[in-house]
Amino acid sequence: MKLHVALLPGDGVGEEVTRQAVNCVNAACRRFGHQVTFTRALVGAAAIDATGDPYPPETHRVCMNADAILFGAIGSPRHDNDPAARVRPEQGLLAARSRLGLHANIRPVIPFPSLLHRSPLRREIVENVDILCIRELTGGIYYGQPRGRSEDGNTAFDTCVYTREEIRRVCAVAFRQALARRRHLTVVDKANVLATSRLWRETVQEMAPSYPAVTVDYMFVDNAAMQIVRAPAAFDVIVTENMFGDILTDEASVITGSLGLLPSASIGDHTSLFEPVHGSYPQAAGKDIANPVAAILSAAMMFEIAFNLPAEGAAIRRAVAESLDAGVVTEDISGDTPPVGTTAAGEYIASRI
Ligand code: IPM
Ligand code: MN
Repeated sequence: MKLHVALLPGDGVGEEVTRQAVNCVNAACRRFGHQVTFTRALVGAAAIDATGDPYPPETHRVCMNADAILFGAIGSPRHDNDPAARVRPEQGLLAARSRLGLHANIRPVIPFPSLLHRSPLRREIVENVDILCIRELTGGIYYGQPRGRSEDGNTAFDTCVYTREEIRRVCAVAFRQALARRRHLTVVDKANVLATSRLWRETVQEMAPSYPAVTVDYMFVDNAAMQIVRAPAAFDVIVTENMFGDILTDEASVITGSLGLLPSASIGDHTSLFEPVHGSYPQAAGKDIANPVAAILSAAMMFEIAFNLPAEGAAIRRAVAESLDAGVVTEDISGDTPPVGTTAAGEYIASRI
């Protein structure tokens, strides 16, 4: 196959970890006989510095013309500490999600057996965890209008908006995923307080009869936050609105022991985007210490979801598991054994592919 990938390394460690993801994509393409081309484009702080825009039109064009987008990370302390800054790097990510119509963000939370001891939770709680979190990504309070300040500056407001259609399309993804897994869907909301949450419940109740094999649970978000650490193995697929999903997926990610291992996929109307769950980790940028595994597993998801090439994805996953078993890992998970750098970890995985 001919594969055309848009490469958006972004900020901080994004450049280093996506370089290793590219190595692994190339290795998988050599092994399975595909031709891949990468087109680089600017996003985030790097794009602001070059063009003043965190998601420039040229970047959007590159993304729209690609079969998939491999994304690094976004965010820079230079912009965080400048309250007068009018554009922030994060706006690049929000604009990309919205303009590419990436309405569903998929984050698998599965611990690696060799790293169970690194979880902040007891082994018996984490052992059988296999959660698929699906977060609505282009609606809710992240995008609702109106937002802003009163004239005197003393009142601020954001608006949470959802349409039935926005809820339907992300929940359809969730139902389909549940069918392919353990057929248990948990809808997380705050229907005891929020009107948008009541529309979520109503919409899911309308959809549920079309998926009779799926058991649907409804859970308030505060309770869900507790259950995710109390009994995470009880979840199969979770679907929730944008902001609840932002918070719960960070919470869920640490139960596996390292944020440096978790990939994600964002799918929707146009090109799908694959990115590590971790951020730009600016303190580590350029030091060759960041864990490339989350970016590499994001590339595995790209093969599986964007290209429908599961064997290629599986080969990458197997190589990652081998690197963990062999202890060829970066300092965030090396424990008492000597760590290797980002490059060495990535090259080892590519060589195993
Ligand atoms: C994420 C991030 C983003 C979000 C930020 C960087 C805007 O936290 O992808 O989860 O809040 O969605
Ligand atoms: Mn987040």
